[in-house]
Amino acid sequence: MSEYLRLNRAQWDERAPAHAASPGYNIQGLLDDPGLLSEVVRFDRPRLGDVAGLRAVHLQCHIGTDTLSLHRLGARITGLDFSPASLAQARDLAARAGADIDYVEADVYRAAEVLEPGSFDLVYTGVGALCWLPDIRRWAAVVAALLRPGGRLFIREGHPMLWSIDETRGDGVLAVHFAYFERPEPLVWDDNSTYVETEAKFTNNVTHQWNHGLGEIVTALLGEGLELTMLQEHDTCPWNPLPGFTAEVGEGEYRLADRPERLPLTYTLQARKRSS
Ligand SMILES: C[S@@+](CC[C@H](N)C(=O)[O-])C[C@H]1O[C@@H](n2cnc3c(N)ncnc32)[C@H](O)[C@@H]1O
Repeated sequence: MSEYLRLNRAQWDERAPAHAASPGYNIQGLLDDPGLLSEVVRFDRPRLGDVAGLRAVHLQCHIGTDTLSLHRLGARITGLDFSPASLAQARDLAARAGADIDYVEADVYRAAEVLEPGSFDLVYTGVGALCWLPDIRRWAAVVAALLRPGGRLFIREGHPMLWSIDETRGDGVLAVHFAYFERPEPLVWDDNSTYVETEAKFTNNVTHQWNHGLGEIVTALLGEGLELTMLQEHDTCPWNPLPGFTAEVGEGEYRLADRPERLPLTYTLQARKRSS
């Protein structure tokens, strides 16, 4: 296994139980109310359209709260992730919620080998997924291989401009500091925290991440025979991306407190696999 997969997987495995126990993921709320959707999927709904009956796969599904929400909207869904501890939480949530969801453990680059290629109406992913992948063209090839002709990709993701920002200078300035374009070498982080409220302490803290420019993402998908049907940039984000600069605005979304028109924080992209 590559060093980046080993490091990143250890980081996710260690954090999965803490995420499942955190108020942010609201597992108990999802169990108490069988009609409840995760905040991420609630945000997506106006753009997602009707997914009832669709054969869907959620790539990098983590602990399965969004996967369960898509199931509740009627999708026949499979979740895929490389973190066994994340999938243990996802399977437990599905079982306790009485939801029939398949979960598969694999590196996302192997998704078309472990799932039936050309069989999915919908590939759903995002919210902190692409930054873990070194090569966006390889990811686009996997998405194209999974979709049936006419099938659709839906992704809401952190904006590559957001990933390029350093907010930690302490002088009140948001600096464009990290690479916007994909680079072969990873950005190496050593961070003992996580993005939810938790008392848990972590020891697997080194990760390897990559940015991918918006044009690189679109070009990779076009190159794999998909056509773009939606590209919307948002000034909000479903986690607190720039602490000290971003403030919660409701429904789990955060926005720059000062002049939010300066920076897109996320985007929604949809693309359809051409029929021929
Ligand atoms: C931030 S989470 C995805 C967001 C998810 N929507 C959530 O619940 O917040 C990132 C997920 O990507 C998974 N992941 C990272 N690299 C991966 C890879 N190469 N293959 C499969 N899963 C991967 C991690 O295990 C983690 O569960």
